[in-house]
Amino acid sequence: MRLYVNVDHAATVRQARRTDEPDPVRLAVLVEQAGGDGITVHLREDRRHIQDRDVELLARTVRTVLNLELAAADEILGIAERVRPHQATLVPERREEITTEGGLDCRAGAARLAGALARLKAAGVRTSLFISPDPGSVAAALALRPDAVELHTGRYAGEWRRPRAALAELETAARQARGAGVAVHAGHGLTYENVGPVAALREIEELNIGHSVVSRAIFVGIERAVREMRERIDRARGPA
Ligand code: PXP
Repeated sequence: MRLYVNVDHAATVRQARRTDEPDPVRLAVLVEQAGGDGITVHLREDRRHIQDRDVELLARTVRTVLNLELAAADEILGIAERVRPHQATLVPERREEITTEGGLDCRAGAARLAGALARLKAAGVRTSLFISPDPGSVAAALALRPDAVELHTGRYAGEWRRPRAALAELETAARQARGAGVAVHAGHGLTYENVGPVAALREIEELNIGHSVVSRAIFVGIERAVREMRERIDRARGPA
């Protein structure tokens, strides 16, 4: 199972002072050295954390995989076409939200998302759609024929101590997508405490985790923070 680490939060701290530290590009190098399989960043339309320059530098320096999260907005798609990250994950975006709150509406937004996917595919970028793990959302996403779907684990993350309806929902969604031949990723709100049951779902091949890893890095350093998350995932996953 691949672990991609979202380094937006270094940029959040940097932008709090509009200075040049901490640098998410330097953090990305350390994540890779610690065994991260990829680097994820979200270039938001409001540029609240990651800046255009970060994406350009990461595209040149990341040695593993750069996964760019973006809204299906013309300006941002233009940057993705120019920078050509290895992978692009389309996400919904609302300016007033604290973080990405829900999944894409692949039914109402079908035409817009199909256009965005076509542009990304033409640029040679692997595509993923960030969606809620309910059967209707999965079906609507699959109809758009992305390379992958990323299942939103927010509900699971909020409920994981209680009965496992949210985990069962994730498992069903993962099987539905995998059964259709589409790769399955997952992320949002995953932590050292709750990652295990999601990592154990065999249909899921990639996790995108940011806040928990960068938070832990403040106390133990990024190298140990990545290694510890890697260990939690591998332990839950068991032998391949
Ligand atoms: N996946 C997607 C699509 C996201 O938007 C985010 C948050 O930027 C994440 C994963 C990572 O979420 P977290 O920071 O809660 O680990």
